[in-house]
Amino acid sequence: MSKLLLIDDEEDVRYSFERIFNSPDIELATASSGEEGLKAIPKFKPDLVLMDVRMTGMTGLETLRRIRQSNPKLLVILMTAYGTTQTAIEAMKLGAYDYLLKPFDVPKLKAIIANALKAARDMKQIVSYQPLLESEDYELGIVGRSEAMQQVFKLIGQVAASDATALVTGESGTGKELVARAIYHHSNRSEQPFLAVNCAAIPEQLLESELFGHEKGSFTGATVQRIGKFEQCNHGTIFLDEIGDMTPATQTKILRVLQNGTFERVGGNQPIQVDVRVIAATNKPLEAAVAAKQFREDLFYRLNVVRIQIPPLRDRREDIPLLVNYFVKRFAREHQRAPKSVAASVIKTLEKYHWPGNVRELENAIHRAHVMAKSDAILLGDLPPEISGQGGGAPPPATAAGEAAATDAAAIARQLFQWAKRDPKLKIIPAVERELVVQALKETNDNQIQAAKLLGITRATLRKRIEKFGIQRELNVK
Ligand SMILES: Nc1ncnc2c1ncn2[C@@H]1O[C@H](COP(=O)(O)OP(=O)(O)OP(=O)(O)O)[C@@H](O)[C@H]1O
Ligand SMILES: [Mg+2]
Repeated sequence: MSKLLLIDDEEDVRYSFERIFNSPDIELATASSGEEGLKAIPKFKPDLVLMDVRMTGMTGLETLRRIRQSNPKLLVILMTAYGTTQTAIEAMKLGAYDYLLKPFDVPKLKAIIANALKAARDMKQIVSYQPLLESEDYELGIVGRSEAMQQVFKLIGQVAASDATALVTGESGTGKELVARAIYHHSNRSEQPFLAVNCAAIPEQLLESELFGHEKGSFTGATVQRIGKFEQCNHGTIFLDEIGDMTPATQTKILRVLQNGTFERVGGNQPIQVDVRVIAATNKPLEAAVAAKQFREDLFYRLNVVRIQIPPLRDRREDIPLLVNYFVKRFAREHQRAPKSVAASVIKTLEKYHWPGNVRELENAIHRAHVMAKSDAILLGDLPPEISGQGGGAPPPATAAGEAAATDAAAIARQLFQWAKRDPKLKIIPAVERELVVQALKETNDNQIQAAKLLGITRATLRKRIEKFGIQRELNVK
């Protein structure tokens, strides 16, 4: 029989877990706060803890940190409805076993728990555990809620806690450099230098000297001694971008640094010892280069200790609205303007596009649209024609209504702000919300299902609003 402890401040969640895990081979205990959970652990001795991240009182991350101090081998799975990069990375860094986004479907949840319980049994023999790291507050700006990106965040957290070499792969514009920097910022070398070298941008003959330096007179043009990036970066992290483009000689030297931390400057014979962490990236299939004997197999295996594969944007389209929102806010901040709203038709179009240039292309498209948009809203016509599919002509009629609605909504909002300025007692959002609910119910003759649809919310939410605002109509339960 396995013991499961659930720590969550929401009664609904505790209740559903009690129902889901009402089985003869699992004993479930629940706690309603981090503090209560910490007290329960020594008594209940769970094999696995499931815990919410956002709780009143002690947060999930703080509770996790304390659990790791007192019970370093206890497996903890964190759950949250708000997937931020930061928490996912922190959680994995602090040694969480897994990190789940709510809502989860029950069969998957069961599978993850069964898997964790098996790991808990296997772990009973292992004594030591990963060291702890203090959490830090660094805004990474890697956006993504898709499962694939959550996986990337977890890997960043895991690899950051170690000194292992990491290989980041993915098509151009998927965020490889962003990920490399995130690993660095979360590592215990974050106070030391970070140097990026684009191996493809430097001519072949010069790359070796760029990386390892050279002695005076070692080749024509080497008039002074030069210190290379590896030496400059001692105790730090070096990011080798486009690693696929290196001559065999440079590959051999890199391999040696990775193996024993030594190299010689070009034209020198004095071995130099450094302590540098390497993060490499490439958008070329290195396996193919290895097969074609263009890339050393032993170097490939050395680099590939931890592989972080970033999927192309077209394979994680659910991240597109989030990215759009993030970029709009960022550009607005940069240009010191109010963020523009984005018409629903624009989001739909962006979701359909195949994004050969991945996130970079999306970022550029939003940047351009933000500059081009004439109203407060980004409309289809503000997108580059290759994305909107429009040759610059009028928008197709099907989307015109949606765009008009967005533009009208902006005008209405402006009007409301005018009123609010005159009447300081007017609380815009509750007032508008109440009125929308009343009108929707009128419009649909109190049919809650239709009213909810009209408002674009769920029926449960509609009910909550009706209660909250004390709207009494002849509520017709249809
Ligand atoms: N998940 C993300 N969230 C927010 N911004 C992102 C994300 N992924 C990429 N970007 C942005 O997209 C641009 C491209 O990212 P980056 O330079 O890291 O890509 P890359 O994979 O190194 O591309 P290349 O192979 O062309 O060098 C950057 O401006 C980066 O900030
Ligand atoms: Mg790059």
